[in-house]
Amino acid sequence: MGSMWGNTIKISVFGESHGPAVGAVIDGLPSGISLDTDVVAAMMARRAAAGKALATPRKEPDAVEILSGLFNGYTTGTPLTGMITNTNTRSGDYEKDKPRPGHADYTAQVRYDGFQDYRGGGHFSGRLTAPLVFAGAVCLQALAQLYPGVRIGSRITALGGVADASAVAPGDYAALTYADADFPVLDVKAGEAMKAAVACAREAGDSVGGVIEGYVTGLRAGVGDPIFDTMESRLSSLLFAVPAVKGVEFGDGFAMTGSKGSQMNDAFYMDGERVATRTNHNGGINGGITNGMPVVFRVAVKPTPSIALPQETVDMARRAPATLAVKGRHDPCIALRACPVIEAAAALCILDSLMGAEKWKRSADK
Ligand SMILES: Cc1cc2nc3c(=O)[nH]c(=O)nc-3n(C[C@H](O)[C@H](O)[C@H](O)COP(=O)(O)O)c2cc1C
Repeated sequence: MGSMWGNTIKISVFGESHGPAVGAVIDGLPSGISLDTDVVAAMMARRAAAGKALATPRKEPDAVEILSGLFNGYTTGTPLTGMITNTNTRSGDYEKDKPRPGHADYTAQVRYDGFQDYRGGGHFSGRLTAPLVFAGAVCLQALAQLYPGVRIGSRITALGGVADASAVAPGDYAALTYADADFPVLDVKAGEAMKAAVACAREAGDSVGGVIEGYVTGLRAGVGDPIFDTMESRLSSLLFAVPAVKGVEFGDGFAMTGSKGSQMNDAFYMDGERVATRTNHNGGINGGITNGMPVVFRVAVKPTPSIALPQETVDMARRAPATLAVKGRHDPCIALRACPVIEAAAALCILDSLMGAEKWKRSADK
């Protein structure tokens, strides 16, 4: 069952882009978590296209209707269901027989024998990240109440070929803030150049990709279960659930391969009573288990597949060559909207992992 995830917290995401609604059911949440729906709405707004000049013209309020699991402002401990109604669809823009290159139209057609709801990309639409953000917003509030001190954030490190080269020291992640939460870059000048690159691609009927760095601070050492449930594999399984994510690396990731062990080993030292490392090339994880340093990872977000430029495709009904210039309303850059989605994926993983580790400890203590 591919649309479900989790060991302790279990999430199920449902819906199609042009169906009546999308949503998520979250099971396993403890009772008594106070849920501020305004805080949920604020995180939903960060992902939504509404109010963003460089996002798809498909603007929707993304209001979450909570159908179960919440009573008098507190979680009940039974499944929490959040539903987001689709209010702005234009299904006529989609041609079933001509799969969009780079999108999931062809693979969905093969996988579901043509029964899939293809309108707007159906279950493969970026719209399915709205329920993920809802779940993440809930998990962030649960984390704040159950594990105070854990903080999750993200920033854009590259967009449209422009890099924000700002280096962040391990000890500085916890305090990172941005002038604009919707466009979290440290180098404001690089940010302006990124925005110009997105606008230029859109003007040309094209799209651009980007890199998002996610980080978790205040996480204790000792979380993670090798060898198949490592923190890298658990986080990656959620990060790759975000459509258009095509790469994930931890710490210095691929760049480590060009360096020496003496450069990439993170030397230990005593920081008061606590064991810490001088550097964080390994991104806070050794052997699949957190080491108490910030967990730092980067995701590669590809350029939006739906572009207005004419592209080669096939006519599936006629089994013949065809040309497609995608109509409809699309994001010229997905990475621009994906930061809250990446944070949501991390929040879900960290809450599930911390609660799972606690459960294991409790049963071992008996
Ligand atoms: C927030 C968000 C918005 C997206 N918007 C679009 C879009 O407007 N047009 C499009 O073609 N793809 C969009 N996508 C990406 C597609 O859903 C994705 O490329 C497609 O499902 C194929 O999956 P893959 O790229 O992971 O292989 C979006 C993804 C996200 C996370």
